[in-house]
Amino acid sequence: MSALFQPFTLKGVTLRNRIAVPPMCQYSANDGLINDWHSVHLASLARGGAGLIIVEATAVAPEGRITPGCAGIWNDELAQAFVPEVQAIKAAGAVPGIQIAHAGRKASANRPWEGDDHIGEDDPRGWQTIAPSAIAFGAHLPRQPKAMSLEDIARVREDFVGAARRARDVGFEWLELHFAHGYLAQSFLSAHSNQRDDAYGGSFDNRSRFLLETLAAVREVWPEHLPLTVRLGVIEYDGRDEQTLSEAIELTRRFKEGGLDLLSVSIGFSVPETNIPWAPGFMGEVAQRVRREAEIPVASAWGFGTPGVAEEAVKSGQLDLAMIGRAHLGNPNWSYFAARELGVDRAAWTLPAPYAHWLERYK
Ligand SMILES: Cc1cc2nc3c(=O)[nH]c(=O)nc-3n(C[C@H](O)[C@H](O)[C@H](O)COP(=O)(O)O)c2cc1C
Repeated sequence: MSALFQPFTLKGVTLRNRIAVPPMCQYSANDGLINDWHSVHLASLARGGAGLIIVEATAVAPEGRITPGCAGIWNDELAQAFVPEVQAIKAAGAVPGIQIAHAGRKASANRPWEGDDHIGEDDPRGWQTIAPSAIAFGAHLPRQPKAMSLEDIARVREDFVGAARRARDVGFEWLELHFAHGYLAQSFLSAHSNQRDDAYGGSFDNRSRFLLETLAAVREVWPEHLPLTVRLGVIEYDGRDEQTLSEAIELTRRFKEGGLDLLSVSIGFSVPETNIPWAPGFMGEVAQRVRREAEIPVASAWGFGTPGVAEEAVKSGQLDLAMIGRAHLGNPNWSYFAARELGVDRAAWTLPAPYAHWLERYK
């Protein structure tokens, strides 16, 4: 019996299996507005059989986009564009989720295939970035951000709340707050990027404050019966890993008290120089430690895209959900082929009949 193909219930939501498509930016929106590209992309993934589809990092404010092509949900018009996508995902039997995000000092960048670097200071396509402190990320992202005032902090927190409310109103059933990857929230937590001397910087309590306050404010508007999740970089692979990981686990316990339902365990990406031990499923042990010590369900990505690796991670108790990213770009029907490879009983296979009939008949 496959562990990966067991249903998973969190709050009032049941996923048909343990396979989630993690948020993946398409860099294909215009002024935050999604379009046909996103419709086809998301519907294909949902039809492919994953239990959960999480829409890409969707900016809570215009200056929070990573690139000019990033999706946004900072007003009702942008939010309404998600209605058909939500319906298509549900019609295909998957649960529609969305990641809401603010890119902080990593915003105002070119698309990955157009350089992945900061847009030049004189280029009108770019914009002023904001961060806890006026410290640039460095390397390919040298633009110096403006240090946020207390008013800026309160405004961005409310931007997250507004985005969550709109996501709720257009029918999303799973919300992920992007607190990872060196973007705004992660940059409050990391001492690399946060050198404030007020209530939002310095001690662990202070560096956690923006994240905890944002989670609490979002929980007020996000329905109690729907999962509220966070993606957090719990480790940087920068040589100070035990301290970062212990702090992240303690923060996760506090998130849990504030209403968190699941943590998506990821990497900090707060500094350009790291020594990440890339290997299939290498985040599994880290995720399991968070799961055990914070006593909360976890998901993780990074190299689980081989069916046997994902199956083992769920079966061994490392993960509650396996996030399968790039493998889904290569094959939106990844779940179907994973089920075949793992010898899963037909009933659990989720490919729609117009595809499944032919693949089953002539396999
Ligand atoms: C095209 C692309 C876009 C991505 N965009 C996001 C994003 O919007 N939010 C996020 O948290 N991670 C993003 N990621 C990271 C993925 O969610 C995932 O962690 C990563 O691809 C590793 O998983 P994999 O090995 O299964 O691909 C992106 C990755 C890719 C390949």
